[in-house]
Amino acid sequence: MACASSFAAVPLAAPVVIFRLTSDFKEDPNPNKVNLGVGAYRTDEGKPWVLPVVRKVEKCLANNDGLNHEYVPILGIPEFTQSACEIILGKDSPAITDNRVGGVQCLGGTGALRLGAEFLRSWYNGVNNSSTPVYVSAPTWANHNGVFGATGFTNICSYRYWHATKCGLDLQGLLEDLENAPEFSIIVLHACAHNPTGTDPTPEEWKKIAAVMKKKYLFPFFDSAYQGFASGNLDKDAWAVRYFVSQGFELFCAQSFSKNFGLYNERVGNLCIVAKDNDNVKRIRSQMEKIARTIWSNPPAQGARIVATTLNDPALFAEWTDNVKTMADRVLLMRAQLKEKLEKLGTPGTWNHITQQIGMFSFTGLNPSQVDYMVKKKHIYLLGNGRINMCGLTTSNLNYVAESIKEAVTSGQ
Ligand code: LMR
Repeated sequence: MACASSFAAVPLAAPVVIFRLTSDFKEDPNPNKVNLGVGAYRTDEGKPWVLPVVRKVEKCLANNDGLNHEYVPILGIPEFTQSACEIILGKDSPAITDNRVGGVQCLGGTGALRLGAEFLRSWYNGVNNSSTPVYVSAPTWANHNGVFGATGFTNICSYRYWHATKCGLDLQGLLEDLENAPEFSIIVLHACAHNPTGTDPTPEEWKKIAAVMKKKYLFPFFDSAYQGFASGNLDKDAWAVRYFVSQGFELFCAQSFSKNFGLYNERVGNLCIVAKDNDNVKRIRSQMEKIARTIWSNPPAQGARIVATTLNDPALFAEWTDNVKTMADRVLLMRAQLKEKLEKLGTPGTWNHITQQIGMFSFTGLNPSQVDYMVKKKHIYLLGNGRINMCGLTTSNLNYVAESIKEAVTSGQ
């Protein structure tokens, strides 16, 4: 007799929106289709880009008979974690000089967020405290809620960030929400190129944020997924993290090398830990080693080797920064051209925010029905909140996208 499946009661989960857009785009036969969904770089021909420096290093690694496929340490390849921490904090960071920094290699930026969240849930400010409030920006990258929720944090709150009518940062709301957060709350901050709004605080605004956080003993957990992408300059894009370090904060920073190395499918991430002293770093990393052991045991080597080789060789490093600038400059050009075209077309509304925002994304201000119009009528794929991936724009599709935005805005949708 056939038994019912033990999984008969499993509900079908909703697809992950960002990746669902990619598959919808792929299946769409319309010749004018444009994918402005998932955050991945495209050339002006609309193709994925393997950074020339990455190709070069890959070939060197392939020809290096000294390399093998043995397990790497659970906490990662030391040359990788060390150089990753140096790139975000700056080689001359006082925290590095004081020997109170440590890295853990993780599976992409998501893995770094998850490892940090798992650790905090077990050990932050008293053992096993799942009710510690975790604050994420409103809006934020959808996975922030997912990651912290999955680790068992039960009190995930949001702080105001985006001011819809101003089309910019809601600094006052943000500061008020931090002021009102319970002491010792965990605050997730986007290090640069805020996802999805492309709107970062200025240095002066960061100083105000840091001052409130210091007063309220709030813990900064930075997510740095776009270093180099925001301004084309690695140091400039790390300014906020470095400022918090200079103010004496203990902090975590989840680093992703998916975007700035174009290594999306290699899952190269680092969790950079800055603590009060070396003894704290040692104990934190020892617990993280236990957590990593039960999730992925040992990290993969290829992507981390590519990054470590590049960061540790001055000539390759220079080539890499040049490659990053190529990507950042293309985005800047697309921003300028999109804004110009929208204005030339007389598209209702103001479009200054397109060039004021930075990084991979633009928060267009299109409402859900206008987005729907773009997707269904124009075959242009973007997120429901109006976010577009600027790297999906090319010289050949820009006019079509701008005209479609105008149509969506004026069609009363
Ligand atoms: C995005 O925001 O589009 C990227 O970070 C991809 C992802 O994993 O969501």
